[in-house]
Amino acid sequence: MPTLLITGAAGIVGTALRPLLRPHYHLRLLDYRPVEALAEGETALLGNLTDPALVQQAVEGVDGIVHLACAHGPQISFQRTVEPNYHATLYLLEAAQRCGVQRFVFTSSHHVLGQYRSDSAEFFDDMPVAPDSYYAMSKVFGEGACTAFAERYGMATFVIRIGNADPQVSDARRLRMWTSARDLAQLVRIGLEHPAVRHDIVYGVSESPQPLFHNQRARALGYQPQDNAADHLAAGYLSYEAMSASDSGRDYVGGAYAGTPLTSTLE
Ligand SMILES: NC(=O)c1ccc[n+]([C@@H]2O[C@H](COP(=O)([O-])OP(=O)(O)OC[C@H]3O[C@@H](n4cnc5c(N)ncnc54)[C@H](O)[C@@H]3O)[C@@H](O)[C@H]2O)c1
Repeated sequence: MPTLLITGAAGIVGTALRPLLRPHYHLRLLDYRPVEALAEGETALLGNLTDPALVQQAVEGVDGIVHLACAHGPQISFQRTVEPNYHATLYLLEAAQRCGVQRFVFTSSHHVLGQYRSDSAEFFDDMPVAPDSYYAMSKVFGEGACTAFAERYGMATFVIRIGNADPQVSDARRLRMWTSARDLAQLVRIGLEHPAVRHDIVYGVSESPQPLFHNQRARALGYQPQDNAADHLAAGYLSYEAMSASDSGRDYVGGAYAGTPLTSTLE
């Protein structure tokens, strides 16, 4: 069975993906928080991706990488993204290239398009990026680094711009971009296994009654979502009308991120 390195494995997405990927790969689970309840076929590596020596150790002997770990949040300063989101992503890509790892899955975010008003296009798939935060800007960098390594070294990279991966759909904005864990796992496996992957960008979204993303490239690679966001509404689901009109994020792809002031880089 091939071995997969998952970074940020103790987080929401990593924890949801583990049982779905475990039947197909040995999992090497890296995080600076402890990874709970290791199952057969899983090993944990505790440490910070900002340590290049740790990254090289983590990458040695793996067949593919799923890079989830990052610093995030609407208010995060640029400075706080530099080490974990820029440096660490480059450490991983370079270590992967040195070790001959052929597959690299990078989880980006719908926030790379978050600054758009959600009524400004029918589908946003092919719009130029409009990141809504320093977090989202770092994802744009990660996407570009993936493409650069793919073109330069022939590594197959697969960027998944995740919509929302919460267990249930909490409001009308997220209804348009929610993904189930099993649909996300299906996409991750396409990224790791499909022979046509070179440096693709797809959307990590299930079906939706009002989708923001068409996801043509994922579908062309065989993606068939099993779930529809409309069937997974949370108990306290907020319709568009119920979302406060004063909520500055209601009308933006990136929600509240789009209305959160950027902290100064000058001071
Ligand atoms: N959850 C969502 O709805 C969502 C939406 C869009 C994109 N994403 C993307 O998916 C990925 C996973 O998101 P998540 O919701 O699981 O986040 P999370 O915060 O729950 O998990 C991230 C994990 O990474 C670890 N981590 C962070 N920096 C690290 C470092 N330098 N070294 C080692 N470990 C580190 C954290 O300890 C944490 O366990 C992220 O890249 C995120 O941008 C998630």
